[in-house]
Amino acid sequence: MIGATPAPVVLISFTIWFFVLQLCHAQVLPQLGTTPYIKHIVVGRCYAYTTIVNPSLRYDCEEIWREFEEAVIHRSSCNVTVDHYYQLFNAMPESWPCDRFLFWSKTRTLMHSYAAIFRHFWTLEDTLVGYMFNDLVWCGQDEDSGSVFFVCPLWSACRNHPVYSLWRKASQNFAEMACGNITVLLNGSIINAFNRNSMFGSVELDGLNPQRVDHVNIKVVTNLEGPRIESCHQGSIADLIQILQSRGFRWTCSDHDETLMMLQCIQDPKQRSCQTCANRLLQPKSLSFN
Ligand SMILES: *[C@@H]1O[C@H](CO)[C@@H](O)[C@H](O)[C@H]1NC(C)=O
Ligand SMILES: *[C@@H]1O[C@H](CO)[C@@H](O)[C@H](O)[C@H]1NC(C)=O
Ligand SMILES: *[C@@H]1O[C@H](CO)[C@@H](O)[C@H](O)[C@H]1NC(C)=O
Repeated sequence: MIGATPAPVVLISFTIWFFVLQLCHAQVLPQLGTTPYIKHIVVGRCYAYTTIVNPSLRYDCEEIWREFEEAVIHRSSCNVTVDHYYQLFNAMPESWPCDRFLFWSKTRTLMHSYAAIFRHFWTLEDTLVGYMFNDLVWCGQDEDSGSVFFVCPLWSACRNHPVYSLWRKASQNFAEMACGNITVLLNGSIINAFNRNSMFGSVELDGLNPQRVDHVNIKVVTNLEGPRIESCHQGSIADLIQILQSRGFRWTCSDHDETLMMLQCIQDPKQRSCQTCANRLLQPKSLSFN
């Protein structure tokens, strides 16, 4: 018997390896595949939205899920177009009051705190469709197995990615609805703050209607620690202004918005550029954001 591994030991070590492999899968795959429990999440968020966030709205959440499934089911993962979501968007018509639309590109974290403080701002994530599908991943269903694909292709891998197509349609609707003064939050610490390939540059900008929009108020924000690469007069933002002008929009652009800087300083008060800001913050009247 010496030298031979007893069967139970083999079994145990196999079991351990099996668990290790399972753990690895559990940690890696959900990010690439359809979000687990997606139906429960989407339908649950829909009910949360229509009963708590925005109780004045009447939507049929089960119907919305059916239309979503209809759009995605039986289509290969790279073959779901914007048009396939037509019925889904029909099932949840939305409109928002003017002067509240906030657009952003590469400023997600700051945008969230900005929108949280100025409660009157609306971003795409505040719309029903944005609220329901935020951070979720899904892809088409396999005809044969009838199950949602476990591994989804990257957005960049195909033109008609189901996730991309949904956000494209949602962004387009959001932009087409925009009216009054709108705000655009851009990141001056990167090259191409205004990027023609971003959702804002490729979809939303084209959806804006100069007859409905009074002013496009651009705010360029740089990281407190820098670098300051782009500004209202420099780089791609100048291109954006050119496009707005040629399409007949009125616009403003600021690259030193005090409120935005205060927000950044609250999160990171030790930055040197916050010293003057901090002195002002010590005066109680400046603490009010209204
Ligand atoms: C994509 O969809 C079209 C029609 O909607 C269909 O003709 C085509 O075969 C589909 N392609 C793939 C790869 O599934
Ligand atoms: C600008 O973009 C960089 C890189 O994506 C990011 O790390 C930084 O937080 C962004 N800055 C702001 C103010 O959003
Ligand atoms: C719209 O923006 C312009 C330019 O920033 C400003 O003068 C005007 O007061 C704003 N109107 C409203 C209703 O906020």
